[in-house]
Amino acid sequence: MKRACKPHQRLMEAVVIIDWIETQALSLARASSLHHGLRSPYFQNHFALPPTPMDSFFKYHVFFCLNQREPGAARPCCANCNAQEMQEYAKKRVKQLGLAGPGKVRINKSGCLDRCEEGPTVVIYPEGTWYTYVDSTDIDEIIDSHLVNGKVVERLKIDQ
Ligand code: FES
Repeated sequence: MKRACKPHQRLMEAVVIIDWIETQALSLARASSLHHGLRSPYFQNHFALPPTPMDSFFKYHVFFCLNQREPGAARPCCANCNAQEMQEYAKKRVKQLGLAGPGKVRINKSGCLDRCEEGPTVVIYPEGTWYTYVDSTDIDEIIDSHLVNGKVVERLKIDQ
């Protein structure tokens, strides 16, 4: 095995030590988070770690494309398929069911999501599940199955 020159060897030793210190700091942060709770001000102030997909502000963030195109445009648009009414319907129903708010569900309007030919479109994050719909019955199914029970509605799903 080739031996490293002295400065290089010292550098490698320093890297190993820094790596060890990082590991210890992360272990401490994790142990502290278990003791104080991940969202406690104590944890956030002392050991805030980078956000992970699990830290999403909303459990489900739902975007309805409401894009409107000029008559005769080359591509279709979701606004011509009752998208605004369906977005408002979904927002109202999610609120009625007590699902709206931080840590729960957010229904938002969106501009063109660039899947116009498959629309009207809805996308649900964090998973990025795409749906199309025809009427409020479809919206109800998406809410009841996906947002309430976490089960994808296969019949309305647009392929990824
Ligand atoms: S107009 Fe709705 S996805 Fe493009």
